Amino acid sequence: MNNPESNKPFVPKQALAPTPQLYHQLVADGMENLAKVTVAELASERPIVGASHLLDLGCGTGAGTSAFVGAVSKEVASDIGIKGVDINQAALDIYKKTTSEQGWPAEAILGDANKMDMFTDDTFTHSLATAMVFVLPDNADPAIKEMYRTLKPGSAAALNSWAYVPNMHPLRVASRATRPAGFPEIRGAMDQWEDGSFLQARIEEAGFKTHRVVQREVFAHTTTDIYHQANMLWSFIGGTTASGWIESDEERWDEAIEIIVAELRKTDGYQKLEGDKLRLKFVAHVAVAIK
Ligand SMILES: C[S@@+](CC[C@H](N)C(=O)[O-])C[C@H]1O[C@@H](n2cnc3c(N)ncnc32)[C@H](O)[C@@H]1O
Repeated sequence: MNNPESNKPFVPKQALAPTPQLYHQLVADGMENLAKVTVAELASERPIVGASHLLDLGCGTGAGTSAFVGAVSKEVASDIGIKGVDINQAALDIYKKTTSEQGWPAEAILGDANKMDMFTDDTFTHSLATAMVFVLPDNADPAIKEMYRTLKPGSAAALNSWAYVPNMHPLRVASRATRPAGFPEIRGAMDQWEDGSFLQARIEEAGFKTHRVVQREVFAHTTTDIYHQANMLWSFIGGTTASGWIESDEERWDEAIEIIVAELRKTDGYQKLEGDKLRLKFVAHVAVAIK
């Protein structure tokens, strides 16, 4: 789920496994809130009505599908169909479980966003990729072209990317301070998405007729204290560069965590809540594009 760029076997003994459960605890309600604002923009452009066919691409454990269902009445929800596509079976297992518990009108499909042969052209009335495009290779161009191909003419797709992420700078400071010079920057490929014009260019490249991009603030309310948050962050993302984890990461684990905690406290997006919990502010670019 954490999209590592290396398959080196070494993992520091302190690192928590990057499971969907850890992802859930790490992002708290942040991804759900991002999905909600993105679906709201999509539905304002093309209302979700009965008989709609919706795609939740890179659905993960279901933040986008939950937002789809939350955006419509019970009557409409019983008359729409959602396909949740993801490449990660563990995430889809949770998606399926929630689908049956919540009664979502959804089907989980194991597949690659870059090649969605299971869908014919012009299938969907709404297409969503939330917290998704910036984890894909090739600037997400093949996947966004597949979104375009599978969308009905005149229908809308919604995509988002981050303009500001409060926890990226703390992770990078910790990595630079505890690792050798020249070590790859953590999530270096994400920087290009900070400028909304990069997302716009991808949408135009895919062939969409029109599009608009707005900025939205998104808040995450963590359920754990800052130290556990820092531990989860370093565990989930610290080893994802092309150089993976290195042996010294184990010896310098506590040092890295102290740096992440100190830097998080300094960021504009950080606020301490009662009970040692945190509120983190993110800023997203939200795009709606019409085929
Ligand atoms: C950051 S998560 C976001 C998940 C979900 N959309 C959400 O908002 O919580 C990115 C998701 O993209 C999925 N993913 C990455 N590469 C993919 C690919 N090539 N095809 C389909 N899914 C992919 C990952 O497995 C992961 O579930």
